[in-house]
Amino acid sequence: MPFVDRDFINDLPNRVDIVGLINKRVALKKAGKDYKACCPFHEEKTPSFTVVPTKQIYHCFGCGESGGIIDFIMKYDHLAFVEAIETVAGESGISVVYDQTAKPVDMRFKRYNKLMEELSSFYQEQLKTSAAKKKVVDYAKNRGVSGSIAKRFELGFAPPGWTNLFDAYKDSEESTQDLLKMGMIVPKKDKKDDYYDRFRDRLMFPIHNTKGSVIGFGGRVLSSKDNPKYLNSPETPLFSKSKELYGLYHCRKYSRKIDAIIVVEGYMDVIALHQQGITNVVATLGTATTSSHLQVLSRTAETIVFCFDGDKAGRDAAWKALQTSLPAITAGLVIKFLLLPEGEDPDTLINSESAKAFNKRVDEAQTLSNFLFEHIKAEVPFNTIEGKTLFLEKSAALVNLVSYPIYQQQLIEGIAQTIGQNITQVEKAIEQNIANNTQHYYANALEQAEIVNQSFQTKPKRTSPSSIKSLMSRMISCVINYPSLVNDPETSSVIEERARKLPKSDVLVELIRHAQVESDLSKEALLLPYKSKERVYNRLKELSVMEPFLSEYEAKEEFGYTLTAAEKFYERKSTKASILSAKTHDEEKAVMQDIMKSKVSATRQKKS
Ligand code: CTP
Ligand code: MN
Repeated sequence: MPFVDRDFINDLPNRVDIVGLINKRVALKKAGKDYKACCPFHEEKTPSFTVVPTKQIYHCFGCGESGGIIDFIMKYDHLAFVEAIETVAGESGISVVYDQTAKPVDMRFKRYNKLMEELSSFYQEQLKTSAAKKKVVDYAKNRGVSGSIAKRFELGFAPPGWTNLFDAYKDSEESTQDLLKMGMIVPKKDKKDDYYDRFRDRLMFPIHNTKGSVIGFGGRVLSSKDNPKYLNSPETPLFSKSKELYGLYHCRKYSRKIDAIIVVEGYMDVIALHQQGITNVVATLGTATTSSHLQVLSRTAETIVFCFDGDKAGRDAAWKALQTSLPAITAGLVIKFLLLPEGEDPDTLINSESAKAFNKRVDEAQTLSNFLFEHIKAEVPFNTIEGKTLFLEKSAALVNLVSYPIYQQQLIEGIAQTIGQNITQVEKAIEQNIANNTQHYYANALEQAEIVNQSFQTKPKRTSPSSIKSLMSRMISCVINYPSLVNDPETSSVIEERARKLPKSDVLVELIRHAQVESDLSKEALLLPYKSKERVYNRLKELSVMEPFLSEYEAKEEFGYTLTAAEKFYERKSTKASILSAKTHDEEKAVMQDIMKSKVSATRQKKS
């Protein structure tokens, strides 16, 4: 993301016409020196939304919503800050001044963007002109896709033939390399400089970023005999599956107000819902929901509704999404789950029942806590003491993933109620769980618990009977294997600071610093400074073998979870120590108040 110049940001509101910009979106009426309209941010019949040009602000006396032009555009157009700056400047004919000391915009990206737009136009054109177009047009018609929705999503056709794209660009070495970089052509085995097209004879779905530029493609076979059913762009400098959400651009563009956003699994689900007028929808494209998805989603709407197929795969995906959601819950964010009837997906369902019926399902979606409790209940023999114990252990592991204290407390109360125990007992189980560090191995623990469920003779063995030491080891292992994980310029200084605050974290902090100085360090180079300290060196060498093996992405998530777990471990320890040190009731009260204060301010800091 480019950095916009500070002075430019400060000055921009003074250079633009707030009335004109808002009037383009909400019809304003003059009222004295100010302008009025019905508020776009809440339902009302008499206008209480006011724009005050002399102060360059807007304010709604009904709902209290107020701010300057940038706030308005962020909220109304559902944009991030920099996007809003670019929109306001663009619509006012002002060019954005980027921070010259930040990295210059890489020219290659401009080329990639242009190429992808060109390819998308080519595929769209082929849908109209290709000699083989009949089967794809029939296919789309059969699935009920209307012409206008095909246009909205810029659907296209990759014609049959191995080298349509390659042939068109092969005269230019640069273009060939760009096609390759974008994953649109694939090198032939054992042949240098010879390539074939990745997408052939498929219905094409361009994938857009939030600005509306094409960054990748998905392609569907037209006959059930061919496979794979869907092919997607690989990871490229423009496209990262774990970050993008299909349909987000269209959701923002075609939805007036996004109170809730529905997350579905597939391309056709998004398209079918749009066709029936449900536009607040995005798809994760068959990957698990990631924490970056959640960040984007929570910026777009206050309620996120995960909608999955009712089969086993769908339930598993929902359960995974729940685990990813827990750390992301903050004040004001509601997460819900909608599991569809067995054998249905949103596409089939919306075509067999009405939009109204589908919306009703969305409105009645299960709350996260409800889904959590129901799911775990179904995994254990709940009516036995052993089953309730397992329930407590499993839910404790999940509660530990929550970082929003109020929600965590609510869940603890929910657990206590469900198993009919008091809150203190539940809290004790949670503390034990932190010490045992099971949440990182939750998947593992689940598997074990399942085996136990079947025979139900022994309690599940702890994957790691460990302590803070093993949390530290895990983090070190992640950094040694993926130094780049602490190298993100946006987060690296925070990570170092957080690590530094942990007791006995010297080696971890040193490693983080080395990794930050040089991004491409090999494992050997990273460990070199320890060569003279035999004991440390040998331990680090042990830790450089990652067990179980994690991908870079997983390691990043794991590192984050572990760091948070280590912090919580100490937070609870010091909380306990200070409560125990209080001698009188008044002292105890004062200590508690201090703890609450620091929790609130920590949450605020995290949010800002
Ligand atoms: N997917 C994929 N590769 C596959 C299968 C699926 O990338 N081989 C992704 C696609 O984004 C797809 C989504 O996972 O849209 C959901 O897959 P699935 O439920 O199998 O397909 P549907 O979306 O129902 O596809 P369709 O209705 O076109 O059969
Ligand atoms: Mn489907």
